[in-house]
Amino acid sequence: MKQFISVNDVTNINALVEKALAYKANPFADKHLGAGKRIGLLFLNPSLRTRLSTQVAASNLGMESIVFNVDKEGWALEFEEGAIMSGNTVEHIKDAAPILGKYFDVLAIRTFPSLKNKEDDYSELYINQFIKYAGVPVVSLESATLHPLQSLTDIITIQEDCRLLTANRRPKIVLTWAPHVKPLPQCVANSFAQWVNAWGEADFVITHPQDYELHEQFTKGATITHDQDEALKNADYVYVKNWSTFTDYGKIYENDPSWMLTNEKLSLTNNAKVLHCLPVRRNVELSDEILDGPNSLVTQEAGNRVWAAQAVLSTLLTSLEGGTK
Ligand code: CP
Repeated sequence: MKQFISVNDVTNINALVEKALAYKANPFADKHLGAGKRIGLLFLNPSLRTRLSTQVAASNLGMESIVFNVDKEGWALEFEEGAIMSGNTVEHIKDAAPILGKYFDVLAIRTFPSLKNKEDDYSELYINQFIKYAGVPVVSLESATLHPLQSLTDIITIQEDCRLLTANRRPKIVLTWAPHVKPLPQCVANSFAQWVNAWGEADFVITHPQDYELHEQFTKGATITHDQDEALKNADYVYVKNWSTFTDYGKIYENDPSWMLTNEKLSLTNNAKVLHCLPVRRNVELSDEILDGPNSLVTQEAGNRVWAAQAVLSTLLTSLEGGTK
């Protein structure tokens, strides 16, 4: 593995999941692997889970981590090639990124979409400019369109729980849109769809209101319906997430509260377990009764962020050492 930007950087999803679960059972198994190595965690927007879980993961591998909140503490970066920098940006990424590459063995970066310009956001300009100029492996801590560490965590959590299913059968996974008060990126939904499709070991249904279609490049292979009740029938896992519109980009068309998952809706499922990446707007996206109830996997899921990050960092470190994993 040379970088971790999407599922396309992973040769074997199940092997990466096994590695993560092995770290969960034995967090310090490779406590010297990262000795003498340093990761820079760059945030262009806020984070709780991604920041802390990646720091814990690096620490478990004996790797030093330094967090830099670029949006609050750094010079305003310019990402456009050929920009005439007479505005608010102070430093070009082609000057800053190679310097970061001198300070760190691995760079991990969280960017965010504008939700105003679809072409810019879906070109992944920010993270691609880091990849182009840093000269060291780059890990996505969420980009404009994807959140691969979250999605790996989600597959880990589903696989971990799946082993408790009585019959060793193919689970039904439903990704359902949920209401929200502000337009959110499509990243988590895109990425979850991309990973579940690439994993290929589940029956996968996506349900959302009309006009909330995601980009087909991520959803292709899933069954898509606007009928949430129909989608929920016999589901084993329900992944709840809001996203703004993709086609007419970054809008809220619909905020029907009846799309919020409740115990009544959960009764349509096969006693499904419920996932959400967090943070969650309680009683808007997801009801208290679900979040505080026995079917919620959200805390286990957030805890698993450490093992996902540790599996990825360990694989990158092995590659840096010239290994083949
Ligand atoms: N799920 C997730 O990425 O959480 P944070 O935004 O807190 O990192």
